[in-house]
Amino acid sequence: MNTLDTLEVVPTGAALGAEVHGLDLALPVSDAIAQTLRDAWYEHLVLLFRGQDLGDDAIMRTADIFGGSQGSGAHSYFNRNAAAFNPHRVEGYPEILAVTNLDENGDPTLDNGGLGSHEVVWHSDNSYVEVPPAGSLLCAIDVPIGGGGHTSFNNQYLAYETLPAELTRAIEGRHQVHDSSRNSAGVPRPGVKLPEKPEDVEGPTHPIVRVHPHTGRCALYLGRRRAWPSNYVVGLPDNESEALLDALWAHATRPEFAWEHVWRDGDAVLWDNRCAMHYRTPIDPSRRRVMHRIQIAGEPVIAPW
Ligand code: OGA
Ligand code: MN
Repeated sequence: MNTLDTLEVVPTGAALGAEVHGLDLALPVSDAIAQTLRDAWYEHLVLLFRGQDLGDDAIMRTADIFGGSQGSGAHSYFNRNAAAFNPHRVEGYPEILAVTNLDENGDPTLDNGGLGSHEVVWHSDNSYVEVPPAGSLLCAIDVPIGGGGHTSFNNQYLAYETLPAELTRAIEGRHQVHDSSRNSAGVPRPGVKLPEKPEDVEGPTHPIVRVHPHTGRCALYLGRRRAWPSNYVVGLPDNESEALLDALWAHATRPEFAWEHVWRDGDAVLWDNRCAMHYRTPIDPSRRRVMHRIQIAGEPVIAPW
């Protein structure tokens, strides 16, 4: 049985992240424990639960603790192009995404049309949809010890609060168009034509700073970065948009804002897409890496201005 007495939240000591001890997410979680977990998530941005044995039903129930689930933008591209092999599909659980480096035959590979074994650049999940997920819960089922695929997270409240004054002024009232054409490993989505000029970029417009609905704090909200033409700042000449994004990304990805997680089987990590980004090192493509992910339901992005 889960009890509040055994629950312990231990901060990583880095700029974000905490490990939760004394909790089995496969067992029922009382309202009081659920509230404690949400408060810990809002305070630490990323929570790590080790030694979990979560089937997909338990993953769904865990999402409910933090606000329920929402489907992934990635699925919609594979659904629109039904001929493509969808490495993300989990039979019977349309809201769960398999994050794997396996091919159609179940063998590890570099490129499977999804994230494969690639390096994954800094990003916030699904910023390319109108209502991005509040968070994501990623559960390690089979990870290669010593085979790479370490995942880092960074604190975008801190990035915002430490911006040089001229950058804070430069982004006030500004919005960005978020390019939906490629996934976070840079792989074009099935059936998508890559943009050749800014007017071709398809995706929603979000404020560059967002307010977290539970903490009331402001965070930088950059989404992801690709070679031009991709995300751009609305209302600026192309060269000024690029220069501003260069400066913001250089600041937002400073190492002192980040914490790296090295995975073991049974780890479940929950992050907040509203105030943290994440990054993954490449994986040895000869080693299997299988995880299941669910996205926590989001709300429309709140601008501070
Ligand atoms: C994701 C993601 C990183 C990883 O699932 O959104 O970015 O470590 N995954 O696989
Ligand atoms: Mn991601």
